[in-house]
Amino acid sequence: MSLPTKVKIVEVGPRDGLQNEVQNVPVEVKVKLVEMLVDAGLTSIEAGAFVSPKWVPQMAASAEVYQQVTKSPGISYPMLVPNMRGLEQAIECGVEEIALFAAATETFSQKNTNCSIEESITRFTDVVARAQTESMRIRGYISCALGCPYEGDVDFDVVTMLTQSFHDIGCYEISIADTIGVGTANKAQALFEQVAKVIPVDQLAGHFHDTYGQALANIYAVLQCGIAVIDSSVAGLGGCPYAKGATGNVATEDVVYMLDGMGIETGVDMDKLLDAGVYINEFLDRAPVSRAANALLKKKAS
Ligand code: HMG
Ligand code: MG
Repeated sequence: MSLPTKVKIVEVGPRDGLQNEVQNVPVEVKVKLVEMLVDAGLTSIEAGAFVSPKWVPQMAASAEVYQQVTKSPGISYPMLVPNMRGLEQAIECGVEEIALFAAATETFSQKNTNCSIEESITRFTDVVARAQTESMRIRGYISCALGCPYEGDVDFDVVTMLTQSFHDIGCYEISIADTIGVGTANKAQALFEQVAKVIPVDQLAGHFHDTYGQALANIYAVLQCGIAVIDSSVAGLGGCPYAKGATGNVATEDVVYMLDGMGIETGVDMDKLLDAGVYINEFLDRAPVSRAANALLKKKAS
């Protein structure tokens, strides 16, 4: 068993997390959250999405969020882009990194982006070609890689094919996502082992939701395959508007607690991360869902 000595955490709370919130989160709250996460030591923070506001109203003011965040050197602020229209907005805002996404099942692809898997490949190929002329860094996501809310089991060959497509067109990293959190450790490991046979493992990331309480087990399983990039969401924010039952992404606090305990470096300051979680939970009027955050905050208060 070999484990990485360092893990990069991609913080997706301000986009993947907040996109599912019904109450409007004002631009200044999102900006402050992103800046607190940078202060906590996170180096890649997905700050918003240039998607249709009719589809995901919460992301409507993403251009303002991106523009108002004080950019720190060496930090990436990827923005989610579904099509050419979204890319044009990213270009107008001077975005340096975008994230594209495709789904591993036809039904989810239709529900999430109103197109088939094949059409999504054509769409993102065109978007990448244009984004490369702007020297953007491009990340890819494969949603529903371990299960689909509409179709159930997912064919690992489709996940592998999509990952290969993202890789071949020039994504520097592809995040394989268990969007509805149904995966378990052996299955997660089998999928990542299969994909890592065709894509260099240092270009893969794991993105787990904690719907069934399996996220940390799945992360531990894929770390053993050599995965050293993990997506997570401060305060466990999240879900997906097109994936019924998908609760939050794994909480960044839980991931950092586990990795700290394993002696794996993340560069994240837990106290400052807790502050960011408290800030957004207070705004949303919500108790922390992160078990680690809950315990650490109670310990601090006692
Ligand atoms: P569509 O309705 O097929 O689009 O949606 P269209 O091209 O037919 O255009 C319809 C209207 O939308 C037009 O406006 C366009 O201008 C507008 P109208 O003429 O009616 O006034 N439009 C846009 N507006 C703003 N930004 C755009 C844009 N594109 C078109 N980019 C579309 C197709 C892809 C746009 C839509 O399906 C969409 O926005 N989908 C995004 C859904 C989404 O954000 N889902 C959540 C993210 S994925 C996720 O969370 C999973 C992930 O995090 C991994 C995980 O957690 O597991 C990645
Ligand atoms: Mg997610």
